[in-house]
Amino acid sequence: MALVSAKEMLTKAKAGHYAVGQFNINNLEWTKCVLQTAQEMNAPVILGVSEGAGKYMCGFKTVADMTKAMIDSLGITVPVALHLDHGTYEGAKACIEAGFSSIMFDGSHYPIDENVEKTRELVAICESKGMSIEAEVGSIGGEEDGVIGMGECADPDECKKVAELGVTMLAAGIGNIHGKYPENWPGLRFDVLAAIQEKTGVMPLVLHGGTGIPADQIRKAISLGVSKINVNTECQLAFAAATRTYIEEGKDLQGKGFDPRKLLAPGCEAIKQTVREKIELFGSADKA
Ligand code: 13P
Repeated sequence: MALVSAKEMLTKAKAGHYAVGQFNINNLEWTKCVLQTAQEMNAPVILGVSEGAGKYMCGFKTVADMTKAMIDSLGITVPVALHLDHGTYEGAKACIEAGFSSIMFDGSHYPIDENVEKTRELVAICESKGMSIEAEVGSIGGEEDGVIGMGECADPDECKKVAELGVTMLAAGIGNIHGKYPENWPGLRFDVLAAIQEKTGVMPLVLHGGTGIPADQIRKAISLGVSKINVNTECQLAFAAATRTYIEEGKDLQGKGFDPRKLLAPGCEAIKQTVREKIELFGSADKA
């Protein structure tokens, strides 16, 4: 199956009160693990690619071509969107060119009028190519130079303004942050989410920073209109922990345990297990 826009899968998710997982990919193993797990669970899926990960994987074209070839060779039949995560204006254009099926333009650091203007231009391009586009209002916090910023909640009126530009899905800051949540994190701002949902209607809302949000808060966010949830760090932590155990147990020193296909296998299984648990929690299993 060819890559698809995220529009149809997210419209169905919003109407069906579940969320589609966006799992960020970092290399061939990551891509394979996420695709195989989505197929195994008969779930639609979004592969997220940050600009940094794109650069690491030798450019967006390499990522797009690898993903398409893998979908073909693995016989993947569930809907798969290949999506630029937190794209710059230039990055968004490069992914459109490279054959992605979806982009996020993160103009949240621009003044709202400039964010609106640039988003409007990219919406028109995506529309003409049948691609989906995500915009962001408010900022998602996260760790920068060892300091965890709490982010800034989105203004529901600004969300309405951006939603009306014709974007496919909208990420709104509601106290969520990328990476691990600090001990004193007060939780998601459901009052803000409810106000945004009220103003944006059927627009699928996106929850970034899916790592470490307790299951009850995930379920409540979905009930208030979240239809796409991004997960990155949790797969990385699971991969690293399983790889550490393998090495600490000295398995790389036994027989051909140093063979990368053996060395990376426990980490890959850990990624798959994490993706399985998230798909289950988000309610997107058997929704392909
Ligand atoms: P986490 O790394 O916190 O899971 O966040 C992922 C994300 O939101 C990617 O955009």
